[in-house]
Amino acid sequence: MTTHDITSAASRNGERPSVVLAVSGGIAAYKAAELLRRFTEGGYDVTVVPTRSALEFVGAPTWEALSGKAIATEVWQNITEVPHVRIGQQADLVVVAPATANTMARAAHGLADDLLTNVLLTARCPVVFAPAMHTEMWEHPATVDNVATLRRRGAVVIEPAEGRLTGKDTGKGRLPDPAEIFELCEAVLARGGVTDLAGRTVVVSAGGTREYLDPVRFLGNRSSGLQGYAIARAAAARGAEVTVVAANVTLPDPAGVKVLRVETTAQLHDAMLAAAPTADAIVMAAAPADFRPTSQSDAKIKKAADGSAPIIELVQNADILAELSAHRAHPGQLVVGFAAETGDATGSVLDLARAKLARKGCDLLVVNDVSGGAVFGSPENAAVILGADGTAAEVPQGAKSALAQVIVDHIAARL
Ligand code: CTP
Repeated sequence: MTTHDITSAASRNGERPSVVLAVSGGIAAYKAAELLRRFTEGGYDVTVVPTRSALEFVGAPTWEALSGKAIATEVWQNITEVPHVRIGQQADLVVVAPATANTMARAAHGLADDLLTNVLLTARCPVVFAPAMHTEMWEHPATVDNVATLRRRGAVVIEPAEGRLTGKDTGKGRLPDPAEIFELCEAVLARGGVTDLAGRTVVVSAGGTREYLDPVRFLGNRSSGLQGYAIARAAAARGAEVTVVAANVTLPDPAGVKVLRVETTAQLHDAMLAAAPTADAIVMAAAPADFRPTSQSDAKIKKAADGSAPIIELVQNADILAELSAHRAHPGQLVVGFAAETGDATGSVLDLARAKLARKGCDLLVVNDVSGGAVFGSPENAAVILGADGTAAEVPQGAKSALAQVIVDHIAARL
């Protein structure tokens, strides 16, 4: 379990946060069993509330064995405990996974015709919907309206993933990876379900670019994409529409986030510039290579018979952050950069970072001290967030997910 600053009522009282896993009737219900396991292993107290149709896909014994609790689908069961009121009232988070078109329609219209919809009406905690359905159903104007209604009321409705659907067809509508839904739920809990980025668009770059010498060799760097993905997840958890431009990232796609894959700095440059016009905030968390080989060999470069080594000539790449900062799509657009610094004879880490902030022209610069090289691929990070307005906020060593939340706090405050 990652160590977020969970601010729920339960955790403040020293109890295990209480999660309601509401399962509606879609084929992806089997994936909710994996989500349930993540929550129980993460120390959460989970009550599963399936619909009648969900039980057609995955039976009661599975939910009861994995949660350690009896389940009910109707308000008429265990009536002395008034479950239709108690379960929702006591929850710190309700996650509907999978959320079918029908369940979202019932939720949007405030129906209360089974236990799940009663829970949704009585819950006062954050609610996350993880939709899964065929592309046509997701795109139908009725569903589009229902999703908009739920979002307007403060729920987090995550975008479905693209890929293979129930039959042989592919498209948008898949339930995201359960591990990623779990991470998103933790991010939602970390800020108490605040959806202050609803209606906002955030574009994040992540990972490290590769500059090819020939078809098999490249110059690259050690950036894993962990920090950029954590920022994307934190922004999505607060209701933003998020696109990640991922350079050679091998991590699973964050739930609810559109992922565009690139390899080189030139591709990253083009993808970021194409995504920028609609963005309210842009975060350049990627590590683009500053240089690329002047030419790329079409064939694999061979060893010379005389034992001499090839000389690689380099040319400088475009500075994407500086370009995005200088040519903002609209005056209020916020641009955030990162600086990995070691400090040198000319100045300390912060001296160099201040100069970089001015040079790049961005609004915020997240500064990492990489003297030890420990930040790459590590789940932890420490940083100072510098503002172009002269502010400096120190973020102590902690999970990259926690730093991501603080970065998104700064973005939300400035938007
Ligand atoms: N960056 C960019 N385009 C580049 C290089 C870097 O947009 N070609 C962005 C990074 O994504 C990061 C910020 O600029 O947000 C700072 O990256 P860094 O490597 O620290 O800066 P450089 O400009 O490469 O400066 P230095 O000479 O210190 O390496």
